[in-house]
Amino acid sequence: MITFDEIIPEIKIVLQEQTENLKKIDRLIINRDLNGIVRLVVDEKFEDNAEVKEAIRLIGQRITAHLGPRFADKNNIMYESSLDDLIKDVPNFALKDFPKVIIIDRLLAESDWTNVSVVKPGTHRIVFYSIKGGVGRSTALSMVSWALAEEGRKVMVLDLDLESPGLSSSLLPEEKCPAYGIVDWLIEDLVENSETVFPYIVALSDLSHNGAIQVVPAHGKDPGEYISKLGRVWMSKNKPLNSRELWQNRLNRLLDELEKKWKPDVVLIDSRAGIDEVSSACLSSLGAESILLFAIDSTQTWSGYKLLFHHWLRNYDSVRTIRERLQIVGALIPELDQDEYIAGLCENAWNLFTDELYEPVPADEDEDAYFNFDKSDKDAPHFPLSIQGNRGLAVLPNLYSPLQQSAVKEKIYAIFGQIIDHIKGIIANE
Ligand SMILES: Nc1ncnc2c1ncn2[C@@H]1O[C@H](COP(=O)(O)OP(=O)(O)OP(=O)(O)O)[C@@H](O)[C@H]1O
Ligand SMILES: [Mg+2]
Repeated sequence: MITFDEIIPEIKIVLQEQTENLKKIDRLIINRDLNGIVRLVVDEKFEDNAEVKEAIRLIGQRITAHLGPRFADKNNIMYESSLDDLIKDVPNFALKDFPKVIIIDRLLAESDWTNVSVVKPGTHRIVFYSIKGGVGRSTALSMVSWALAEEGRKVMVLDLDLESPGLSSSLLPEEKCPAYGIVDWLIEDLVENSETVFPYIVALSDLSHNGAIQVVPAHGKDPGEYISKLGRVWMSKNKPLNSRELWQNRLNRLLDELEKKWKPDVVLIDSRAGIDEVSSACLSSLGAESILLFAIDSTQTWSGYKLLFHHWLRNYDSVRTIRERLQIVGALIPELDQDEYIAGLCENAWNLFTDELYEPVPADEDEDAYFNFDKSDKDAPHFPLSIQGNRGLAVLPNLYSPLQQSAVKEKIYAIFGQIIDHIKGIIANE
């Protein structure tokens, strides 16, 4: 039997040889279910059209020959009254080179990275993401929130790293933690009970003297049945009239409500680390203006980002929307031989972007018309903002106590200055 990865290439071979038959159908939906089994769906208006029905049958026959048991043995061609309704609430994307062919890809968490949300106007949302955990992402986010609040800004921080929460502990002492967290809101929202917890999911950090740090933790002071809740959190919600709301749209609704009530100048989001459909959709669907990609210079990091970019590249329109918002952050830069390390990091980041996301500029064409940057261009998405590795920070049991001391500002700027200034620049851009 063919493997999962061969499904789409094999379908493309069939569609290529069946061009004439494909022309007779205005839209062909290919549904790949959770088990990786494929079915074809076409408009029911063709059911009574002998010529088109025969064309569809022939396509199905060729797909059977190529996919074998990966093409359903029963009901493998389905006629539906409304294809628009069918694709309305599910992740789908046009098959590359076949604009009339739509793939519906059923995933466990029903994430949809294919529709990159437009940047949310009236607010600044910034996502902190890393392929690997433990690179200082949450620490950097806390430091940025502290520095912005010192300058009088109202900063909201969200701990969306639900599987490995911890952001709030650097900004709040345990007793100040609110009663509930993001997980509780998402769980209660499934049964229209989110108002019960909404007033109690934000706490103000007392580290800020000038502005405000509004902390929205993953869970409340008492996490309750956290693992049971976590198992339900990435769920879509059933709505009246057979429609569904994807989890990422629910999350967006939470962000909208929080912004409406608390009116932050900027929202910093600690996203889950690693490559999966949830983190991928978080990056694309929260309307973030800037997506910070934390990186240490390791083979694992670059191959991980390659996988993520490949996933996005299945839908070229999505990539064009999202690539402008990306920014590499060099994390834990070693104290020794810094310049050499940063040059290596920059080179590898540039190679990655050039291979995957930058557009080649044809000879004699204006390079400004293309998404392409020189390796040394400091404004390029691949050019790393550096965060210094610091031995003192590495051994701290928590950040809350040091951040209370008045003389830390200089030290914080020495380590996190570049990322702080980068975000200040985004906020200044009203
Ligand atoms: N700039 C730094 N220099 C040295 N150590 C750091 C630095 N930033 C963070 N650390 C330390 O590295 C460890 C991991 O930091 P942190 O929790 O911020 O990483 P993370 O990327 O959010 O990890 P996770 O994926 O587990 O959420 C902590 O012990 C922290 O004190
Ligand atoms: Mg973290």
